[in-house]
Amino acid sequence: MPPHPHCHWRGAADWKSLGLELSTTSDEACKQFDALLTQIVNHYDDETVGGAAGCIEKMFKADPEFLMGHVVKLGVSGQLVHKDPSFAQDIYKMASLAQQPHVKLWERKHAHAVQKLCEGKPSQAASIWEDILVDKPTDIISLKFLHDMYIMNGLSYGLRDSLARVQPYWKPQLPFYGDVLGMYAFGLEETNMYSEAEKTAKMALDINRYDAWATHCVAHVCEMTGRFKDGIKFMMDTENDWNDNGLQCHNYWHTALFHTESGDFESAYGILDKHIIPFMNKNKSMFSLTDAASLCFRLEAEGYDVGNRWLDCYNTSKDHVEDTVWSYFDINTMISCLGAKKTSDCDNLISQLKHVIKENIGENAAIYRDITLPICEALQAYDDSNFDLAVEIMKPLKYHIHRVGGSHAQRDLFNLFAIHAALRSSKPENQKYARHLLMERKSQKETPLADRLLQRLVDAHGSS
Ligand SMILES: [Fe+2]
Repeated sequence: MPPHPHCHWRGAADWKSLGLELSTTSDEACKQFDALLTQIVNHYDDETVGGAAGCIEKMFKADPEFLMGHVVKLGVSGQLVHKDPSFAQDIYKMASLAQQPHVKLWERKHAHAVQKLCEGKPSQAASIWEDILVDKPTDIISLKFLHDMYIMNGLSYGLRDSLARVQPYWKPQLPFYGDVLGMYAFGLEETNMYSEAEKTAKMALDINRYDAWATHCVAHVCEMTGRFKDGIKFMMDTENDWNDNGLQCHNYWHTALFHTESGDFESAYGILDKHIIPFMNKNKSMFSLTDAASLCFRLEAEGYDVGNRWLDCYNTSKDHVEDTVWSYFDINTMISCLGAKKTSDCDNLISQLKHVIKENIGENAAIYRDITLPICEALQAYDDSNFDLAVEIMKPLKYHIHRVGGSHAQRDLFNLFAIHAALRSSKPENQKYARHLLMERKSQKETPLADRLLQRLVDAHGSS
């Protein structure tokens, strides 16, 4: 990756002068912390500083008790205390460090927020980060954590408004200014403010053309407004700016979606095989699994054989069947296990969801009960060719699915799932429901997908 515009790492006095005093006397710890944040916010590893792992090592070597270092390291781990006793120890050690008298109030609040997050209470964590921002509107750590939380919770307005509120405080000379614009652009996009979103994303790209999150925002705008040709052109014109970033797999996924929606399945397969699956096989990340599995599902639903690609998905997801961290991951794990015909893993995943519900573990319990478990059962029904049951389950969930998290483009998977189940149903009322869902899609954007599935309905069931 080329150097990020922000590469003059801030020491203790720099942080203090910005109103973000850190409770360490180590300049080196502060500088490594800044370098770490820059990589996290920008989804990449900077080899010139030893990557994120190298920064963490140097940061704790300089000050093993540096509280904000522990906050960020644990906060981005994606782990939960009830799943891992040694991780729980790390969290409670951080909580203990936060009680030291020299710790600043905003840092103590951060530690509390990360503790809540890792106890499975992301909404409580988000409230604390919102609270920090009232006093510290230029705190990029709160903004980034909130951005991720609102994506996980599917709370579009939080995604936009958390950034809208602090815009007047962010000046172009501040580090992360462009990144904040890129995040704000995504919040605008997720609340259907498409022209404002695109304009803001392009302002971020004018500051840093390698801002893969701002690029990603432009892709979302093109997806939601049906500008598939524009989207393909933009992504291909800028490919060398983002294809070395941690978001590369997801940005390729967006590019493949443009092709899929347009009916160019060969190009979609090309991207899947050349970029998405190799990235997933190499990194084994759950984020890349969601890209691969959801794309395989879309392609297979359109009648194209996904073949051994399901096994690639399964090989990434099989160690996460019992994770129960985030609904969108769980559902894509279910999709990959169904695709690879791994029945016992599917049953195990269902058992894990039921365990969280029964034991009322964290905020996931209610979401799993209301949405995630029913969707997984609908997917099983669809896989068993019980399309009527799949429709019956999915219908009442339609306006509640945002609770599984993710973006509108990611959750479009569930719109498509309901359409395909209804289209395959033997019941005339479900076939009519499929037609209504497709007409709804056509009302929102130019969509070759809706046109070809409407034609498929006519071919299969007549025009009534
Ligand atoms: Fe996206």
